[in-house]
Amino acid sequence: MLKRYWLIGLVVLLAFSLLFAAGCGEAEEVVDDPDVVDEEDEVVDPDEVVITVAAGAVGMELELTRDLAEMYSEANEGVTVDVLDTPDMADDRLGLYLQFFEAGSSEVDVYQIDVIWPGDLAEHFVDLYEYGADAVADDHFPAIIENNTVDGRLVGIPWFTDAGLLYYRTDLLEKYELDVPQTWDELEEYAQIIQDGEREENPDFWGFVWQGNAYEGLTCDALEWIASNDGGTIIEPEGVITINNPNAIEIVDQAAGWVGTISPEGVTTMAEEDSRAIWHAGNAAFMRNWPYAYATSMADDSAVAGNFDVSPLPAGKSGSGAATLGGWQLAVSKYSDNPEVAADVALFMASYEGQKYRAVEGTFNPTIMDLYDDPEVLEAAPFFEALYDVFINAVARPSTVTAPQYAAVSELFYNAVHDVLTGQKDAADAFEELELDLQDLTGFPVE
Ligand code: GLC
Repeated sequence: MLKRYWLIGLVVLLAFSLLFAAGCGEAEEVVDDPDVVDEEDEVVDPDEVVITVAAGAVGMELELTRDLAEMYSEANEGVTVDVLDTPDMADDRLGLYLQFFEAGSSEVDVYQIDVIWPGDLAEHFVDLYEYGADAVADDHFPAIIENNTVDGRLVGIPWFTDAGLLYYRTDLLEKYELDVPQTWDELEEYAQIIQDGEREENPDFWGFVWQGNAYEGLTCDALEWIASNDGGTIIEPEGVITINNPNAIEIVDQAAGWVGTISPEGVTTMAEEDSRAIWHAGNAAFMRNWPYAYATSMADDSAVAGNFDVSPLPAGKSGSGAATLGGWQLAVSKYSDNPEVAADVALFMASYEGQKYRAVEGTFNPTIMDLYDDPEVLEAAPFFEALYDVFINAVARPSTVTAPQYAAVSELFYNAVHDVLTGQKDAADAFEELELDLQDLTGFPVE
């Protein structure tokens, strides 16, 4: 997958150098031509504005973005909105975006950006307040607007928010006379009981699936374990490194014990869609995932439709579960040839109607507060109301305080956790080293 995007990056770079070499004189001729023929030999109206949106393709994401693109194109004569499919893993997507930015490419006009990226990537985006966002900013969760505001500039309009949830099989809890687990210890115990029972019939069955690959998703999962165990948030908002503490160490060692017992060995190579595939086929009792997996689990081809529900993640020592704050924004490239139209497309996709469509069809959590009172939204996603507190209390990753180095901080963190999960180190050693690496990288003090 990654290779394919490197290739796209290279092609983009090449195309740009060729254009540059061709010089400006020829560009004028092109403008004078009545019709310009593109590479696929389609006749393109030279007055047609094409806006390209780089979007995610996790679960139903891509098809829903395409639907909105079509709605916009139909309602706005002279504008075509194209959707560029990007890699599922956040780190790979970031790598692709960086290639476009380095080339100063106008190929992509609107970027779907992760909630952790505004600080790292702000310089590449326009200030949406200059393109009409001031009229709608107050409709969104203030914390997300604040997150997306860098030096007073709104670099992304919030599109959907995310929080980690526990998916559980209602039929199996009933069969084994178990309740929804409230703590990680209970989850471990119940996952084992159900797994032992189900294995008699189904050798592919696992107790608990989650995201254990060395990537941003593991940062999210591990932050949830640690925050729920009163172990802090790696680096605190005031700029103090806290990861090397006994509560963080304890829970990450505990999670390493799940690998190969209640979770497949291969969990250390899994991202969201890998764990969802096991769950979707009916081969897991519990899954940690984001809200998008609710709609896909209800779909016709799902083996668990009607037999699952969602709850807050289990608690550790702190006595309550913690959900990592995720979510995606739409940002307009500074290198776009049509920033005004691009901003209009972004604001349309992130509008009440745009967010409602995605919430109803794909259970993507709105960032517009009023949508949590919309009856059609609540009918499609009853957990938006039931778990509202989880969404508004989700734990942020240390992206604002460490910007523009968050990606590097997270990489150090998830690699350290991955080393523990794969048995190369215990958490005490891994976090002692991580603490030093984070000091070197950020210059922040240790608690
Ligand atoms: C989800 C979240 C995003 C997070 C990613 C990690 O897409 O919305 O914030 O970084 O998962 O895999």
